[in-house]
Amino acid sequence: MELTDVIASRRSIRKFSPEDISPDTIHLLLDAARLAPSGSNLQPARFIVIQSPAAKEALGQYTPYKFITRAAVIFVCCADLTAISTRDMRVGELLKEGVFDGVDIDASDASAVSTPVMDAQAIQAYLSMNVAIAVEHIVLKAVDLGLGSCWLGRFDREKVKLWLALAENIWPVALLPVGHPDQSPKARPRFPLDKFVLKTL
Ligand SMILES: Cc1cc2nc3c(=O)[nH]c(=O)nc-3n(C[C@H](O)[C@H](O)[C@H](O)COP(=O)(O)O)c2cc1C
Repeated sequence: MELTDVIASRRSIRKFSPEDISPDTIHLLLDAARLAPSGSNLQPARFIVIQSPAAKEALGQYTPYKFITRAAVIFVCCADLTAISTRDMRVGELLKEGVFDGVDIDASDASAVSTPVMDAQAIQAYLSMNVAIAVEHIVLKAVDLGLGSCWLGRFDREKVKLWLALAENIWPVALLPVGHPDQSPKARPRFPLDKFVLKTL
């Protein structure tokens, strides 16, 4: 599908038909996430793939959105909070690849090259922003494959962490149920473009 059509036709899908999706399709969705950009190429996104009916039911206890149990697959989309400590390594890889060769960067501006100091809350927010980009790659790839999905931010993160026995450094950012749409919603309301654009200089 043309990217323009993918973007225009995407909707949050909250009703799914019972068809499964193949392991190859799940692979394509996860690979779309893998290719997402991330700050300093930290690649903090991590996914738990929930496919068994029992696991879907269990996860359904931790969100008001019971419809997730009818999705073919649910991705628990997480951030690895330790990714921030790999910044020097990741930037080193980029330097080795010549990413910045010949690029006009003012090296006297320390903030462009050194690790910014962030508290734990800022790190979580920064890494979650990066995870969001990877999640949206899955969302768009799903549309490309004729599938639907719905971002879910409302769930009990601490309980999901416990249930999945996630390590302390793994922070659940969002749930993403994906499956065959059983609804064709019209486009949801959006502000006009002039509300998005604050200034043109
Ligand atoms: C970060 C994020 C969190 C969201 N959380 C929820 C949620 O908890 N429950 C829900 O029903 N929809 C959720 N949504 C979907 C939005 O409600 C939806 O994107 C919005 O209403 C616009 O509709 P559309 O996606 O069909 O264009 C979320 C979307 C995003 C991007």
